[in-house]
Amino acid sequence: MFEKVIIFDTSLRDGEQAPGATMNLPEKKHMAGQLESLGVNVIEAGFPASSPGDFEAVQAIAGLVRNCEVAGLCRCHRNDIERGWEALQQAANPRIHCFLATSPIHMEYKLRKTPEQVLEMIKEGVSFAAKFTSNVEFSAEDASRTPLDFLVRAVDIAIKAGATTINIPDTVGYAQPEEFAERIKYVLENVPDSDKAVFSVHCHNDLGLAVANTLAALKAGARQAEVTVSGLGERAGNAALEEVVMALKVRQDYYGLTTGINTEQILQTCRALSMLVGQPIPANKAIVGANAFAHESGIHQDGVLKNPETYEIMTPESIGRTNTDLVLGKHSGRAAVKSKLTELGYSLSEEQLAIVVDALKKLADRKEKIYDEDVEALVLEEVYRLPDQYRLEEMSVNCATAGVPPTAAVVMQVRGESKQFASFGAGPVDAVFNTINSIIGANPKLHRYAVNAISSGTDAQGEVTVRLEYQGRTAVGRGSDPDILVASAKAYINALNRLEMKNGGI
Ligand code: KIV
Ligand code: ZN
Repeated sequence: MFEKVIIFDTSLRDGEQAPGATMNLPEKKHMAGQLESLGVNVIEAGFPASSPGDFEAVQAIAGLVRNCEVAGLCRCHRNDIERGWEALQQAANPRIHCFLATSPIHMEYKLRKTPEQVLEMIKEGVSFAAKFTSNVEFSAEDASRTPLDFLVRAVDIAIKAGATTINIPDTVGYAQPEEFAERIKYVLENVPDSDKAVFSVHCHNDLGLAVANTLAALKAGARQAEVTVSGLGERAGNAALEEVVMALKVRQDYYGLTTGINTEQILQTCRALSMLVGQPIPANKAIVGANAFAHESGIHQDGVLKNPETYEIMTPESIGRTNTDLVLGKHSGRAAVKSKLTELGYSLSEEQLAIVVDALKKLADRKEKIYDEDVEALVLEEVYRLPDQYRLEEMSVNCATAGVPPTAAVVMQVRGESKQFASFGAGPVDAVFNTINSIIGANPKLHRYAVNAISSGTDAQGEVTVRLEYQGRTAVGRGSDPDILVASAKAYINALNRLEMKNGGI
């Protein structure tokens, strides 16, 4: 039998730390439900002591999820641990995840503590956490830059204090696969009670090696992988869940390991996160990119037609890619919409369902074929964003030949009040953004503007992504509509709402 690897997903904690990836509470709850359907073993729902928003999210997810453990991140401080435990109360299977840096550079410059003080803090923090639950994880932050003898001492103390999972993070993405595997082996062999804990790894992607390092560590004996959906995370991100899981599955002959992941849910999960954080999946992204199963060259096409295994090492179906996602149309009723939403992992109230059915009918008037992506875009815009501070009501744009500047008129809700304005711009998108800025009385800096087609065909919805910066804070926004100017306005307003969520507001 193959040994089991625990999949610990930290998309809602480390993933959310990625620039512009903030999610609101309904979005986090939806993602947690999707992760549960995917079959991850542990969901790290946030860092409860870091903000009231994180506390609320961990608490809500702990109350919602029944089939996965729910973890809350805490520093090795009593207050953090108490707050973390308070947030985790409702969880069917709560886990306290304590961390403390062990590398010389972190101890000296960040913590300003001596190595002996750090060891004492690990002992105190972990044993305090173990008073609440036997499910305690300890992470030696920056473990890959920690001298091995000190790492062994830190891990030994954590296990003796009650940690049942020991995480060896490559916090700064510095490790190399073989060297990292050696490190894991060394710790496993030299910590006296290493068999009393599950060893975990958590790799960042600064050198593009997060997945390789994770797999090397699993081969060396680690049995938990900390990953994020699509590799979302701090800086260059974390190890991508879908890549680690599919490597273990496709090359089970090599690793001899298995996971409990329902791989047919992978694409759906990656799409959901991409939509929520407004970051499109690159076409060449391994496993889930639009081109991951596309064969362009004639020789390849010929081979795949004769036998797909000539150029495909896994089937598109195994990650949930089907050709049958053309779903709803103008005449689809409430029941059809409800069943599609359930299939996509959304459980909506009757009132929310009515909003989606109504919006779908309007969309179907403008667009003949409605795809899964259209339905998801609609739920995210119409349902999950209702409590936003800014909301587009109506707009019109006039374009003309040179000499007459484009004009935009926008009506929008600003904190519950309807406001309108019209102004010019260098182009139609510029006119829309200038008008919105006049309405809100602020001038955020536009760093990125990108348009994609959500599905195929000339009537495909445009998906616009923008990145805004305002007073040192940045946020990504996403909007979709068959009209790309409307999609642009929605994306801009979505980014304003996300800036608003990041404390202070506009
Ligand atoms: O990268 C890291 O070291 C972390 C820890 C808190 C686990 O995210
Ligand atoms: Zn991390």
